[in-house]
Amino acid sequence: MSTIEISNYYDSTENSATREDLIFALDEVKGSKTAIDCGCGAGSDIAYLRSKDFTVYAFDIEKESISRCSERFKDDDNVLLSTDSFSTFNYPDASLVVADASLFFCFEKDFESVWEKITNSLIKDGIFCGSFLGPKDTMAGPDYDKEAFWSDTLVMNEAKIREKLKSYEILKWSEHDLSGETSDGKPHHWHIFSLVARKI
Ligand SMILES: C[S@@+](CC[C@H](N)C(=O)[O-])C[C@H]1O[C@@H](n2cnc3c(N)ncnc32)[C@H](O)[C@@H]1O
Repeated sequence: MSTIEISNYYDSTENSATREDLIFALDEVKGSKTAIDCGCGAGSDIAYLRSKDFTVYAFDIEKESISRCSERFKDDDNVLLSTDSFSTFNYPDASLVVADASLFFCFEKDFESVWEKITNSLIKDGIFCGSFLGPKDTMAGPDYDKEAFWSDTLVMNEAKIREKLKSYEILKWSEHDLSGETSDGKPHHWHIFSLVARKI
């Protein structure tokens, strides 16, 4: 069952502004418009993808995410939802895979096979648009509240991410390294690598 913090997080992100990376990624998609949203949360990326006429397969490990999205997209046959983890999801062929702030929580032991599944699901020239948690992020250290949020974090440094992208052409790469406060006023350091890459 979701914690109150997770419910609050979904409330605050259900209508998030679309990230520049996702807008950029959609412009790079050629051919069929089929996307997978991995760890779809409250569904803001699904809504954007649907506004651009993509068929969207979306999954999340949290039942609350999928029940919110089921209600939100209940009249839309082109949103296909499932309660799944990165490793249990059955990845269809796709021209776009989105994983924003979600691979942060893939179990480390599963990551190699999950990454292989993501790569295999992308058709040739397919686009990956996602983010990875860097080692300086508060969530990578002892101050991260594992009781309130998802307990396992997968921390990746730049070299490791680039190594995973050998069969991709990197189209856009950003490193966010900044301090501030979360929406509930707690100090936080963000260290996030966001990228858009094309499968070669
Ligand atoms: C920080 S939220 C991001 C949600 C959404 N992508 C967004 O940008 O608003 C992370 C999401 O990943 C999901 N998640 C965590 N661990 C997961 C796992 N092992 N498999 C699939 N989804 C997972 C969480 O339930 C949560 O909805």
